[in-house]
Amino acid sequence: MTGKKTRPQGQDEGSTFIAAFQMRADAAQTEKVRMVIKEQYKDAFDVLSDCENARLIPGIIGPPGIGKTLLLRAYADKSERSFSWITGDEGVRPAHLIGSFNPALVLNKGFTLESFEPGPLLKTMVSGGVFGLNEANRLPEYVQNSLLEPFEEWSVYVPRLGRIRASEDFFPVLTMNPEEMAGAHRLSEALRDRIRVWIRLGYPRKETELEIVKVNCPEYHLSDSVLELIYRLVSSTRQDTDVEVPASIRAAISIARLSAEMARRSGEDDPSHQTLSAAANYVLTGALRFRPGIVAENAVQSIIRRSLASRESGS
Ligand SMILES: Nc1ncnc2c1ncn2[C@@H]1O[C@H](COP(=O)(O)OP(=O)(O)OP(=O)(O)O)[C@@H](O)[C@H]1O
Ligand SMILES: [Mg+2]
Repeated sequence: MTGKKTRPQGQDEGSTFIAAFQMRADAAQTEKVRMVIKEQYKDAFDVLSDCENARLIPGIIGPPGIGKTLLLRAYADKSERSFSWITGDEGVRPAHLIGSFNPALVLNKGFTLESFEPGPLLKTMVSGGVFGLNEANRLPEYVQNSLLEPFEEWSVYVPRLGRIRASEDFFPVLTMNPEEMAGAHRLSEALRDRIRVWIRLGYPRKETELEIVKVNCPEYHLSDSVLELIYRLVSSTRQDTDVEVPASIRAAISIARLSAEMARRSGEDDPSHQTLSAAANYVLTGALRFRPGIVAENAVQSIIRRSLASRESGS
């Protein structure tokens, strides 16, 4: 797996890159979304479809790593459409969403469509597909306002090229974390008003979360008792009042994958207590945010010790 390859030089390097790029592009085309669609995910999936049919723009609210982006990808995949997304921050400008003219091409061809490089919003409006906008509340207000026309009128004005009407297949969806709803960065009232339906996702039931972990670890075999401990680790952070941002599903997957790989390296059939504890430590060190005043290192150790305690005494 880690065999070293000789690095190509000069011209070779360029053509090798082109071939490799094409291969990667093909891989992206044939990539299949693996998602556990049941319970809240099934409900959300169905409501997304209702919203699209009813021409209502939904917002998905859920903590980080709960599956918001994957849900949209799966939704787009199901209807064989493209999915593009962008995450809002202060640096995003309308041109990042709509696109802009390439100055080098403008010199030759003028302000024509050929010189225009479309952004993800315009691309999706023209070709149809699902457009996910993460953390729209972090966008400067004037950028949020630039979304009003696409989201309300299904049209957009492209500077120098004119107004276009969006494809019938254009489906914009906002996603955000619950704290952003109340946080300092607010969704502008005008944009919030365009989001007609709110879908909440929370942490799934234990069985469902473990099924999700397994789906994301296809190359490893983890016993039920190890999976149980991984769930205990992450769920304890969700009940701990010292923890402001608990472990996500993403963290559970990471602990599972890292502990399986560490176990494989040390010749264990199943991750031992020490292996699981070490893997959890590597993952949770950066995955949790604690209340001010709490020493993260000690708190992580204590969560791991408490969660794995019963196994220690039981085996
Ligand atoms: N229902 C599910 N089935 C399979 N995998 C899932 C499911 N839900 C979440 N995951 C996995 O959990 C991880 C996080 O999912 P995703 O990136 O969609 O979360 P998110 O809510 O968009 O997070 P963020 O708020 O950080 O953007 C991914 O690895 C994803 O594959
Ligand atoms: Mg996401």
